[in-house]
Amino acid sequence: MKLRSHLVLLIVVAIIPAVAVSAVALYFFAAQTKTTVETSLVDTARALSLAVERDVRSTVSALHVLAGSADLKRGDLRAFHEHAAPVLRAWPAWDNLVVLDLAGQEFVDPSVPFGAPLPKTHAPRLSDSAMRAGFAVSEVGTGPVTSAATIAVQVPVSIDGEIRYMLAASLRTDALAELLTEQRVPAGTVGTLVDRNKIVLARTGGGERAVGQPAPPDLADNVSEMAEGHFSTVRGEGQPVFVAFSTSPVTGWTIALSTPRDALSQPFESSLKLFGGGALLVISLGVVVALMLSRRVSSSLRSLASAAAAMNSGAPVRVPRSRVQEVKAIGEALLAVHRERERSEEHRALLLADAEHRRRAAESLNDVKALVSESLEPESVAQAVVNAMARLLGAPMVVLYRTDPDSSDLVLVSEVGAPERRGWHIPRATGTVAMALETGTPVQSADVLTDPRITLEDRLRADIERSQYRAAFAVPLMVRGTAIGSLMVGDGIGRIYADEEIDLAQTFAHHAAIAMNNARLYQELRAAYDKLSVAQQQLLQAQKMEAVGRLAGGIAHDFNNLITVISGRSVMLMRELGPDHPSRRKIEIIQSTADRAADITRQLLAFSRKQLLAPKRLNVNEQVRAMLPVLERLLGEDITVTFLPDVDSGTVLADPAQIDQVLVNLLVNARDAMPHGGRIELVTANVSLTRDDLGAESEAVPGPYVMLSVQDTGEGMDAATLERIFEPFFTTKAMNRGTGLGLATVYGIIKQSGGQIVVDSHVGRGTTFRIYLPSVAADVRPDAPGPN
Ligand SMILES: Nc1ncnc2c1ncn2[C@@H]1O[C@H](COP(=O)(O)OP(=O)(O)OP(=O)(O)O)[C@@H](O)[C@H]1O
Ligand SMILES: [Mg+2]
Repeated sequence: MKLRSHLVLLIVVAIIPAVAVSAVALYFFAAQTKTTVETSLVDTARALSLAVERDVRSTVSALHVLAGSADLKRGDLRAFHEHAAPVLRAWPAWDNLVVLDLAGQEFVDPSVPFGAPLPKTHAPRLSDSAMRAGFAVSEVGTGPVTSAATIAVQVPVSIDGEIRYMLAASLRTDALAELLTEQRVPAGTVGTLVDRNKIVLARTGGGERAVGQPAPPDLADNVSEMAEGHFSTVRGEGQPVFVAFSTSPVTGWTIALSTPRDALSQPFESSLKLFGGGALLVISLGVVVALMLSRRVSSSLRSLASAAAAMNSGAPVRVPRSRVQEVKAIGEALLAVHRERERSEEHRALLLADAEHRRRAAESLNDVKALVSESLEPESVAQAVVNAMARLLGAPMVVLYRTDPDSSDLVLVSEVGAPERRGWHIPRATGTVAMALETGTPVQSADVLTDPRITLEDRLRADIERSQYRAAFAVPLMVRGTAIGSLMVGDGIGRIYADEEIDLAQTFAHHAAIAMNNARLYQELRAAYDKLSVAQQQLLQAQKMEAVGRLAGGIAHDFNNLITVISGRSVMLMRELGPDHPSRRKIEIIQSTADRAADITRQLLAFSRKQLLAPKRLNVNEQVRAMLPVLERLLGEDITVTFLPDVDSGTVLADPAQIDQVLVNLLVNARDAMPHGGRIELVTANVSLTRDDLGAESEAVPGPYVMLSVQDTGEGMDAATLERIFEPFFTTKAMNRGTGLGLATVYGIIKQSGGQIVVDSHVGRGTTFRIYLPSVAADVRPDAPGPN
């Protein structure tokens, strides 16, 4: 049920009992009023009756006064006539005044001249009881003078104690009727005066014709039953009437007041109507007021409801300005709740934003940490740091510098928002970065261009003026108390960063410092490791070659002795058998095989550096140049050979035959690597080799060397092949195509000559062999032995 219905119901419920009670009160009041009116009508009837009686009594009194006059007592009737005439005139209600004898004969009448014949009176003779009472009232009759309806009032006249005459006055009934009309009675009330015989003496309300007629039977009946009372009846014309009557005990006359029922109930009905109308008006007014109030209240409540709904949906909350105090209080409470909620939501949003910022910072820091632990490129860590800084601080420019240990310049490592500074080396002045490096603490400036502490390097100043990032702070990248770089954040003029933000930058800078230091340490470690592993490799190789060489040398030595025997005996046998012997061919095969075996043995001996050398001072350029025609023949047409000699190529101490063998072996190998032709380039150069260049394990000594390189455009070698190429009998060539002793021989010769051989090869791109022979002064004697 709606509030409006509630209020209307409330009003109706409040008003209706009041109306009902009033209606009941009104009913009782009306009934009371009716009774009062009825009673007052009876009272009026009584009062009228008394008034009539008083009139009659005053007439009786007047008559008694006249009866006692001296004129009558003396029997002087003429004098009485004279005196009575003015009395008659003084009583207008009297129609006449006569003196009559006991037989009823009038003999004095002041209205006619004295002595004029007079009629016998029509008034009855006084009864005995009347005589005792002192007066009598006759029935209604016609006045002897005016012929109006009259009643005769008689008193006895006594002379000397004896009744001698009667004094009678005719009283006009219309005078009595006037009394009736003078009374204040309800409209339409008809007054009737009835005598003892129920004959109408007087009547008001236009009923004069009824005077002298018998009274209506219902009136006559009721009057005979009681002296005073009321009854209801219906008038001749059908109108219900209320009749109140009262009978005078003196005259025996009855006054009846007949009032229409309508006139009696009319005040009640009109007040009922008034009350009904009023009640209806009050109820209607109440309902209207209730509706208005309910509209006001319900519209306020609706506004409250929509304000509450708005609160939930997040729409703007508008609380109604109600004059209803409770609604106003609820509205204010709602508004307070809303404000509180908004405040707590704002607070929550702030907390959330803060937590989110912290989470992002932690996440970024974790990323950077992860990067620090897994990346050894300081640039990528530095880039991650500046990116994170720019994102977390909302800064438009972040730059990370490292200090160059040699020049102490600032070198830009990574940046956000300063691409034009990439690759910069800035001499250190006293910018925020330099100051942070100097002090090892964060430095902040709201405007670096006007800050008195700051002197900027020219190029930096120009760049700041252009970019307008004039506010800046820098934090140092510290490693064990040394600043190795700085993280700088640039922003619009006047921007001041909070301590927490600077702390955050410091944390990130710390990790960048760790990363940069780690990377430096790693690079150092890596270089040392690389060097070590090369040395190790070289050592292994040297040991291997040493072992293989010793083995090969031992075998070759023994084989050489055996082959010498085989060869010598087969020569002797051939001599003994002569040229035509059938077995000579077989012995020749033994001889050539022994030669080949001797050849191999020689090569093995060369490898194991057990050859007998005949070193000479020789010019490598000349040696190569002399060999070139032989070599070209060896190589075939689709291979071109170029020789690029160093003009001032030095002198070396070596066995020329052996050097030729080296050249042949290298060029044959190059040819074999270029089955479809290609180019071979021979180069000589004077170089100086350090211990580092030679390798820790090398037997060669640092100093000046003559380098001879043979470079081909052949198929090249993979790592596995490269590792074994100097081993004796290692070949990748088909059976009977190579023995695998070529490079082993070269290796042995070069080592025996105190030199060094290195190879650089790439599959598909070709191979370069470089031979280093120690250069000797031109005047060094050939017998001075080289290394080994
Ligand atoms: N210039 C080169 N290009 C490609 N591979 C080469 C080159 N020089 C040497 N090699 C490789 O090294 C191996 C060893 O060479 P080495 O000269 O010792 O033996 P060989 O040439 O196979 O036989 P031999 O020289 O005894 O006839 C070769 O089989 C070849 O695989
Ligand atoms: Mg070879």
